[in-house]
Amino acid sequence: MLYEACPTLSKFRTVFAAVPVLILSTLLSGCGGGGSGTSPAAMSSVSAPVSTLQDLTVNGDASLSSRAAAKGLIYGAATKSYLLADEQYSKALAAECGMLVPEAELKWNALRPTPDTYDFARADALLAYAESHNMLFRGHTLVWHEALPAWFQSTATPANAEQMLRSHISTVVGRYAGRIHSWDVVNEIIEPAYKGPDGLRTTSPWYQLLGERYIDIAFRAAAAADPNAILVYNEIWLDNDSPAADAKRTAVLNLIRKLKAAGTPIHALGIQAHLDEVMIGSNVEKLRAFIEQVTALGLKVMITEMDVRDRYLPADIATRDQVVANLYYNYLSAVLSNPSVIAVLTWGLSDRYTWNSTAYPRGDSLPVRPLPLDSGLNRKPAWNAIAKAFDNTSSR
Ligand code: XIL
Repeated sequence: MLYEACPTLSKFRTVFAAVPVLILSTLLSGCGGGGSGTSPAAMSSVSAPVSTLQDLTVNGDASLSSRAAAKGLIYGAATKSYLLADEQYSKALAAECGMLVPEAELKWNALRPTPDTYDFARADALLAYAESHNMLFRGHTLVWHEALPAWFQSTATPANAEQMLRSHISTVVGRYAGRIHSWDVVNEIIEPAYKGPDGLRTTSPWYQLLGERYIDIAFRAAAAADPNAILVYNEIWLDNDSPAADAKRTAVLNLIRKLKAAGTPIHALGIQAHLDEVMIGSNVEKLRAFIEQVTALGLKVMITEMDVRDRYLPADIATRDQVVANLYYNYLSAVLSNPSVIAVLTWGLSDRYTWNSTAYPRGDSLPVRPLPLDSGLNRKPAWNAIAKAFDNTSSR
C-alpha cells in the first residue's frame, strides 16, 4: 500500500524542513502541548531540525495488526461501544486491530451509576465484539483522578475508601478475569508540577483519601482478582524533551523502584503517547533511554494511547498528514528499538472519531487528523508510518 506524495509537500519541505524546532515552537506559540505545566518556552530548547520528508512506502497492504504480529508485537486501538453501530467503522477496527481498549466503558463513571451498583452492559458488549473478532482486550482504568461518578465526592471518606477501592477492583477485575490481556491499574498518578512528595499527584481524590498506599492496594487487589493479567501503571506526558518531562520521567522511575522494592505486583509501564506539535523534530533519545531504564527494572512497556495533535499545523492536509506521519514514524522507530516494548495502541483508529476533535480542536475549525485512518476510513501517511515502523523493527 502506497500513499502518494502530493505537490504541496515540496512547499512543506521549503517551509518546514530547515526550520529549527526553536523557531517552530515560536510559530506554534500558544501550544499548551507539554501538559504537566510545561511552557512552550521550556520546550523550545530542542535544537534538532524538524523532520524532513520521509519515504513511508511499505510493501503490500497487510493490516497493522498483522505487521505487528509478524514481529511478536500487538497493535490495537481504543473505541467506544456505541461506535460499533457504525458498521463501516467496526469493520475497519476488526481489519486493523489485534486488540481493543474501551475509551470510556470501564471508567468508574461508566460502571458505577450508584455506590452499590454496577452497569457492565457497554463494557460487556465491547469485550464480546473483541472476542468474536479474535482481538485481545485491555482494561482501562481502575484508578484515575478523573471520570469519577457524581456520587463519589459525597460518599467516599478516608474511613471507607480502601474498602470501596478493593471491592470495585475485585468486582470489575474478577468479572473479566482470564479475558483481559492487561489492566491499567493506576492512571496518571505522577504530576511533578504539583510538587507533591515524589511528584505524586496529591490532588487526586485517591491520594487525598488514602495517601500513597492506594497504589499498592490497587495493584495487589488486581493481582488477586486476575493473576494472569499484565498489571500496568499508565502515565501521560512522558515523551517530550523538556525539563518538565525530565522531572516526570525521574519521578516515574523513582516510583517504579519503590513499588518493586515493596513487592507491589506491577508488570508494565503504559506510555500514553498523546503527542503534540512541539515533539516534531524533537530529540527522542531521552525517551529511548528512559524506556531502557524502565525495562532494566523488569517491566515491559506498552504504548497505550498514541495520537498526534495537528491543531497548530498549517491547514493544508498533505502538509499536516506528512508532519503527523513523520512524528509517528520517528517516535515508534525509537521506542520499538527496545524489545521490551510489547504493544502499540492508538487512541482511536480513524479521524472520524477522536477525542481530539473536542479536547484539542483547531482554531480554524478544520477537522483534526491525528489517527492512522482518515474520516473516510482510508489509510493515511500516519498509517504508513506505523506500518513501516512495525516492518522495520526486530522480532520480540
Ligand atoms: C479520554 C476520552 O478519550 C474522552 O472521550 C473522555 O471524555 C475523557 O477521557 N488519558 C486517558 C484517557 O487515560 O482515559 C483519556 O480518554 C485521554 C487521556
